Amino acid sequence: MSLKIPKIIGHRGACGYAPENTLESIHTAADMGIQWVELDVKLTKDEVPIIMHDDTLDRTTNSTGNVAEKTYQELKELDAGSWYADSFYGAHIPTLEQAIEVIIDRGLGLNLEIKPCPGREKLTAEVALDLLSTIWDDHDRLLISSFQNVSLETAMDIAYDWHRGLLIGEEFPENIEELIKFFDVSCVNVNANTITREEVEQIIEIGMPILSYTVNQPDQARLLQSWGVDGFFSDTPDVIQENIFIVH
Ligand code: G3P
Ligand code: MG
Repeated sequence: MSLKIPKIIGHRGACGYAPENTLESIHTAADMGIQWVELDVKLTKDEVPIIMHDDTLDRTTNSTGNVAEKTYQELKELDAGSWYADSFYGAHIPTLEQAIEVIIDRGLGLNLEIKPCPGREKLTAEVALDLLSTIWDDHDRLLISSFQNVSLETAMDIAYDWHRGLLIGEEFPENIEELIKFFDVSCVNVNANTITREEVEQIIEIGMPILSYTVNQPDQARLLQSWGVDGFFSDTPDVIQENIFIVH
């Protein structure tokens, strides 16, 4: 199994054009000819894996409160679209299963970011990977990542041979090489706004492909590409796709 490193990954679907982490956002990315999407998964109170970024409902739905305190029954009819634009009224928070169905149907690759609510780092990875193992076959086009080491370690325990990405935040870890080896990752996903050229070179020296989030400006994509960054998460993936040098 070898990961087909994507050049362009639609961030939360294609969240520059549709409400993030909805089926509509996934379809929008696919309609643009984007081949991979990134989605965030977390659990409801009753442990249903859903696609959602924030720990609370406030920003991206017509409700409020903590996701971890709501059952799926309570979430499934919420409007997760009109906060973004009236035309998306009625978009719902998808379950992981519903999202995967669309992704498989549209022939997309997936970076599933395990984004647990606090305290549910292990459980979220377990539930998400258990479900994925029943419906996903193409492991050259599936990448599991998380900011939470516990989640990544759980992914490693459950499915050692699936591809993992080391997701790095604003602080570049001093022990990067150790982390890469420990988690036995296939790529390193770095913050485009804080990564330096020296850090990119350090990762390249270790022999790891690099993906960078979140890049919406062509100039930034080209600069990072000139440093050796391989691929980009973007809210506007069509714009970045048109403006980088793609080697097929
Ligand atoms: O996985 C890349 C990127 O999505 C990480 O940041 O906050 O957008 O999930 P965030
Ligand atoms: Mg994410």
